[in-house]
Amino acid sequence: MKNVGFVGWRGMVGSVLMQRMVEEHDFDYINPVFFSTSQAGQAAPSFGGKTGILQSADDIDALKALDIIVTCQGGDYTSEIYAKLRATGWQGYWIDAASTLRMEDDAIIVLDPVNKANIQSALDRGIKTFVGGNCTVSLMLMSLGGLFAENLIDWVSVSTYQAASGGGARHMRELLTQMGMLNAEVAKELQDPNSSILDIERKVTQKMRDGSLPTDNFGVPLAGSLIPWIDKALDNGQSREEWKGQAETNKILGTSQIIPVDGLCVRVGALRCHSQSFTIKLKKDISIPEIEKLLAAHNDWVKVVPNDRELSMRELTPAAVTGTLSTPVGRLRKLNMGKEYLSAFTVGDQLLWGAAEPLRRMLRILA
Ligand code: HSE
Repeated sequence: MKNVGFVGWRGMVGSVLMQRMVEEHDFDYINPVFFSTSQAGQAAPSFGGKTGILQSADDIDALKALDIIVTCQGGDYTSEIYAKLRATGWQGYWIDAASTLRMEDDAIIVLDPVNKANIQSALDRGIKTFVGGNCTVSLMLMSLGGLFAENLIDWVSVSTYQAASGGGARHMRELLTQMGMLNAEVAKELQDPNSSILDIERKVTQKMRDGSLPTDNFGVPLAGSLIPWIDKALDNGQSREEWKGQAETNKILGTSQIIPVDGLCVRVGALRCHSQSFTIKLKKDISIPEIEKLLAAHNDWVKVVPNDRELSMRELTPAAVTGTLSTPVGRLRKLNMGKEYLSAFTVGDQLLWGAAEPLRRMLRILA
């Protein structure tokens, strides 16, 4: 059995990873060693019934002893430890949730239902570094994989509706606190069916603007609003999140000719499901039933939701999808621009297929 170190298992992505590994009995196949940045020496958690002592996450000698390291600790940890560890000659496998190493030549972005062949050929070539993709990219490829796999896509334009969880646990708390404060501001008036809705709205808007909502994480109110910018600004007017769309999609697919992917990334008040609205330019006119067939056949998690009002409202929302591995795609129809222009809407849990699940499955491939 391989000795597998886990760093950052207590955080949000790490916790979802642990939960999934327990559900899938992954601990039966490995010897887990748990690391901590602050509590080395204390009892390790007993996921899968295995016990031990927490090791220090900075202890290069302890890390060096492992066959595989899985980290959800974040980019700063990767930047600090990875190069040091490799410099010792360590030949183990590094599986990482952070974006730090994603675009490195000797790293593969893992999403095995989409790029299993690329993962396998990387393993055959001796590649040892495997990184989870950006959540919107992974979720897009899980939902639209059938069209990419058939090389039917000329380009993709996207608008995202990204959940608070993409920012982190504190962002989710901040959103919920904002929501509660806005509600509290007008709770009395809401109980009175005769109160004026414009008065209620005015009070809410005033509250949103008076500086009293907590905004340490998002910088501005998100509850009752949205934020049309995610991550840092690049020199070309894109946000870094928008830049990742094309860069990572093409790297995951291993395309020989770049498929343009671009659009606007927007933060909305969803908790942990990212949704995306696509305009897809197809390479040729294919019928909607054919498109639906290709999409549905691509993997076990994609689900085609027929372009029907009731079904879209019931099945194609964060409320329906959160906490599940389902990656539905719907609103499929040809746009007025022409027969090669397809609209699509996707939803997926940002912490599952958007973060933890590809890492879990990569570990399973190795173990
Ligand atoms: N950058 C993403 C977000 C997180 O902010 O929603 C998932 O990679």
